[in-house]
Amino acid sequence: MTAKVLILVGMMGVGKSAVGRRLAEISGREYFDTDSIVQHRVGRSIPQMFRIYGESAFREHESAALRSLEPSPIVLATGGGIVLRDVNWSEMRRLGHVVYLKAPTEVLINRLAASKKKRPLLEGLEWEEDVQKILSAREPFYEKAHVTVKVGDESVDEIAERVFEIFLELEKGNAD
Ligand code: S3P
Repeated sequence: MTAKVLILVGMMGVGKSAVGRRLAEISGREYFDTDSIVQHRVGRSIPQMFRIYGESAFREHESAALRSLEPSPIVLATGGGIVLRDVNWSEMRRLGHVVYLKAPTEVLINRLAASKKKRPLLEGLEWEEDVQKILSAREPFYEKAHVTVKVGDESVDEIAERVFEIFLELEKGNAD
């Protein structure tokens, strides 16, 4: 049986990278994330890419990053907007099991306020409202994941352990 990628999707600020890194440790898998793959390939940061080439160029690179991967025993965190393109769903389904980390807007806003990472889509003064708008528009896309895991203020360790258990269940279902 081919190894499946454990893929995390969800909003900016939900903790995909932190949970993904912890999951990699727990599972003995290597950790990747699509933002880093894109940055590495283009040689620019995500905010620079948005500014210089625009969002659609970034989205092309994001899809190309998925296309370049093969099903394998890795953990893959994705950028929050990866769910918007149908073609990315075909690629994610080809690669593995997709887990949606779902958090309430307030949790996202608190985490984003504290996080230093620059998010080009949240540079406006009304960024808190923008989080709400983006989440509402994307929710139906996130729900296309194989499984949804609700997260609140639990620790990264707790969430990662929960996700890993669920992933193992998905793997079992796959083996039947
Ligand atoms: C984006 C999320 C970012 C990054 C880019 C666009 C989005 O990744 O890919 O800024 O559209 O939600 P994170 O979800 O890791 O912040």
